[in-house]
Amino acid sequence: MALSSWFVYPSLFYTSTSSHSPCNSSCSSKSKWRAASVTVRTPKAQASSPSPSPSPVLIISRQEEVVNIAEDVTQLIGNTPMVYLNKLVQGCVANVAAKLESMQPCRSVKDRIGLSMISDAEQRGAISPAKTILVEPTTGNTGLAIAFVAATKGYKVIVTMPASINVERRVLLRAFGAHIVLTDPAKGLKGAVDKAKQIVHFETTGPEIWEDTMGSVDIFVAGIGTGGTITGTGRYLKMMNRDIKVVGVEPAETSLISGENPGCIPSILDVRLLDEVLKVTNDEAVEMARKLVLEEGLLVGISSGAAAVAALALARRPENTGKLITVMFPSFGERYIPTVLFHSIHEEMRGFQQS
Ligand SMILES: Cc1ncc(COP(=O)(O)O)c(C=O)c1O
Repeated sequence: MALSSWFVYPSLFYTSTSSHSPCNSSCSSKSKWRAASVTVRTPKAQASSPSPSPSPVLIISRQEEVVNIAEDVTQLIGNTPMVYLNKLVQGCVANVAAKLESMQPCRSVKDRIGLSMISDAEQRGAISPAKTILVEPTTGNTGLAIAFVAATKGYKVIVTMPASINVERRVLLRAFGAHIVLTDPAKGLKGAVDKAKQIVHFETTGPEIWEDTMGSVDIFVAGIGTGGTITGTGRYLKMMNRDIKVVGVEPAETSLISGENPGCIPSILDVRLLDEVLKVTNDEAVEMARKLVLEEGLLVGISSGAAAVAALALARRPENTGKLITVMFPSFGERYIPTVLFHSIHEEMRGFQQS
């Protein structure tokens, strides 16, 4: 059985319809899976002014008459919804809207890259279910996204992972049919995966935010892992409006970009796009992630908590009065049940007695 490793760049396979040229909201055209209307919240600064608030803007785009049923689950990737934070915004003078990547079919921002890489390689004729086995060395959400897309398309997948990866993660991968090899992960694909991350966010995440905010986003906030999300999305948004600020978030304990800790800045991170980098401690991130569930009803992961801490700090600055801050929430909270995020609830539930 031949093992074909794959080395691909993402494609334009997504349903994003942006032309990538600067345009106003009239160039916005949604895929057939999108709702047709967008309302814009009156900025807080205007809301408190004595003059009458303008009515919410309603944009209605004509759409083809088609049934709203996806051909397969991969068509549901992307076009994630945005929602305002409402309860955690005490003291804020800007609006904060979260982009919920937890609403992806496999519950994380990495679904985008799983689809783009596999689709692109297929379009180039490099892979097909009959002749290719996909070998994936990443064990996080990227590995899951690839296993999930591969399952829908009939590919066999081998995921190599260190034995330290938690059993819940292995169970999920196996549920999608992936074969798991416990080993030191090979590094060969990392460069291609990272490059693809940056491109797919330029092609999809950036245009989605631009279109859904009708170009009114002022500040984009995202956590930095490899830097793919912030580089691709930030580059697109700055191309559309160079005044948009791009703010990265990194863990205070291991801050790298701010320069306190030794280490290599990820090669795909374009630091020239970053207007600012905010540091958030792990404790702050966990506490905020818990509050997002309890007070906003948003079950998200720890890195979403970190991004929210940063976005809310920006939203409290007087110079951001009336602005719209968009913050990426990259993943769903349920995936973090074995972690510190749920530790205290685990303990509480374990000690629960029938009354
Ligand atoms: C769970 C999760 N997904 C995605 C990202 C963004 O990753 P990248 O910078 O690799 O695009 C982060 C970054 O903090 C993250 O924690």
